[in-house]
Amino acid sequence: MRTDGDSWDIVTSVGLTALGVATFRALETLDPEPMIHDEYAAWFVEAAGEPHFLQKLDEPAAGTVGLFGRFMGVRTRFFDEFFAAAWQRGVRQAVILASGLDARAYRLDWPAGTVVFEIDQPRVLEFKSKVLDEHGAVARADRRAVAVDLRDDWPAALTAAGFDPRRSAAWSAEGLLPFLPGSAHDALFERIDSLSAPGSCVATDDFGRGMDQRHFDMEEKFFGPNPFGNLNVHDLWYDDARADPGDWLAQHNWSVHRVTPFDLAATYGRPITDLPAELPAELLDRLRRASYISAEKHR
Ligand SMILES: C[S@@+](CC[C@H](N)C(=O)[O-])C[C@H]1O[C@@H](n2cnc3c(N)ncnc32)[C@H](O)[C@@H]1O
Repeated sequence: MRTDGDSWDIVTSVGLTALGVATFRALETLDPEPMIHDEYAAWFVEAAGEPHFLQKLDEPAAGTVGLFGRFMGVRTRFFDEFFAAAWQRGVRQAVILASGLDARAYRLDWPAGTVVFEIDQPRVLEFKSKVLDEHGAVARADRRAVAVDLRDDWPAALTAAGFDPRRSAAWSAEGLLPFLPGSAHDALFERIDSLSAPGSCVATDDFGRGMDQRHFDMEEKFFGPNPFGNLNVHDLWYDDARADPGDWLAQHNWSVHRVTPFDLAATYGRPITDLPAELPAELLDRLRRASYISAEKHR
């Protein structure tokens, strides 16, 4: 389903996945004990008008969030805390790679003087800016949208937007990696490394690549209907060879920390204890192998 140089808007192809995760952030925000607060997410879902996600938002009954939604809450909080830890260490540049409908530039309490760069495809960023402008939202940092494809020369676009490689930066690549072909995936980390001054940090989630139909069917059987409706997200993933991000960073002068979503959920007071008992071992193993990685570049 993917081709070199393919592009999308917010309701097609990879763009639709950004709308999907925003929907689950909106639902998590409505939870009586939410792990995160993203009041902006619902605006995007309403403005996009995509029927499946609109319907999910209209029925935020208990249990709608499901396992996938809980993982999304965990994930959002992990990256929120990553950026807060970075600014507490004095980092004042953030680069959100594949920002999609991430509203952190508006949601988080960035210290004065912070610049937040958001990189994504042009039509995704246009949609996002339009919705935020229509609602009169005001960013809490100097937000700069950088419309460029992450398979292209994005470092040139980022530096043209004012990124300063002599100053430390906090990078996030959230919900991105399997959507990149192996060459762009490996180049992503090489480029982050070469643009990172000492003291910089990076966070990403390693949730696998390529998924065979068997696993997909198992997920539906045990966890209920596909949270993305008719979209089989795995059709948009690449499964070609690539470096392991944590190993690669560790080999390139970064100290690396890995944590599983299960451990994080427990840390956040929302342990995931209700996995179906009869879950096949290979699926359980796949879930447990997913990890969140944060790394800091040595000084
Ligand atoms: C699952 S969404 C995640 C969005 C956001 N990081 C979040 O967690 O809400 C994947 C995002 O990756 C972006 N993306 C994927 N491949 C890309 C590429 N080659 N260039 C630019 N953006 C890309 C999509 O446009 C989409 O916004």
